[in-house]
Amino acid sequence: ASLELGPYRHFMQKEIHEQPRALADTIDAVINAGSFDASLFGANAEAVLSGITGIKILACGTSYYAGSTAKYWIESIAGLPCDVEIASEYRYRQAFADPRHLVVTISQSGETLDTMEALKYAKSLGHTHTLSICNVQESAIPRASELVCYTRAGAEIGVASTKAFTTQLAALFQLTVVLGKLHGKVNAEQEVDYLEQLRQLPGSVQHALNLEPQIAAWAERFATKANALFLGRGLHYPIALEGALKLKEITYIHAEAYPAGELKHGPLALVDEAMPVVVIAPNDSLLEKVKSNMQEVRARGGELFVFADQDSNFSASEGVHVIRTPRNVGVLSPIVHTIPVQMLAYHAALARGTDVDKPRNLAKSVTVE
Ligand code: G6P
Repeated sequence: ASLELGPYRHFMQKEIHEQPRALADTIDAVINAGSFDASLFGANAEAVLSGITGIKILACGTSYYAGSTAKYWIESIAGLPCDVEIASEYRYRQAFADPRHLVVTISQSGETLDTMEALKYAKSLGHTHTLSICNVQESAIPRASELVCYTRAGAEIGVASTKAFTTQLAALFQLTVVLGKLHGKVNAEQEVDYLEQLRQLPGSVQHALNLEPQIAAWAERFATKANALFLGRGLHYPIALEGALKLKEITYIHAEAYPAGELKHGPLALVDEAMPVVVIAPNDSLLEKVKSNMQEVRARGGELFVFADQDSNFSASEGVHVIRTPRNVGVLSPIVHTIPVQMLAYHAALARGTDVDKPRNLAKSVTVE
């Protein structure tokens, strides 16, 4: 069934809509067990994960942005240092290796050459503990890893990754809470809270999918633009990066993402009436900061397209368009806010008539250098 389009026009659209199911399948074991157990990552995982003192994440493309999001979770929830690196950079530099640091590779296909080579390189430098987050059973990267967690997104056909990304995030969140428990940072009460947040995730993602008509209307306006800027802060900065990547991959519109606090250090020079600025602005501790960044954009004539959750208290005004995303879902908010940026790219591509599932010059799985 994964290989048939059914009622959808493109695999990408189908895969976007499969996310509530894909997420429910990926979190199923935790929800059923009623706890975040190390055995999710393999029989030996408890011993390995309790002994490590830090995390190094290696990945490419969209998977790298999943890792970039996880860094925020791992440091704040599990209290462990985490760094995230692009596999093709890591494999060619003289990197520092602490053998007590767990190497986590993230790859939808499990076959990306640079990620595979980065894993081998990490081992050659002395890393002994490795964990793979992967969507394809028995592919090369999980086979070369000590611990494995398979996402259950099902086959992903569209070159631009969608359900693989959000399920990677769900798996990384599960890893975070497992680490937090093993390292004494997540107590029983907090575990119950995280479990409840995870249980609500597929439903919140479904609510976000229901925004499709409003987002399609925005996308019409994007289709004629040459450039776009995406802004986020904190946990939502990597989602801004992912939104810009989706847009450039499938519409060929030049898009960049910035952490909103960096605006004044460069990108503000690009802002004028012709520059649409997408802002991911959920109600979190950085909301007031994001609002003042938005004023800086408005003052230069930039048109704002804001994704704000129910609690953010935004209203539309001249040059400020607002779409309300579902109620704030706390630390899982980046997963929910991925949905609207995926749909924005998809509908802008439809309006431009590009080949959504097979964008020019790109491949689904990059097994050459
Ligand atoms: C290609 C795909 C991307 C993907 C990246 C990494 O560039 O087009 O969608 O994010 O490879 O792939 P992986 O299979 O390792 O996640």
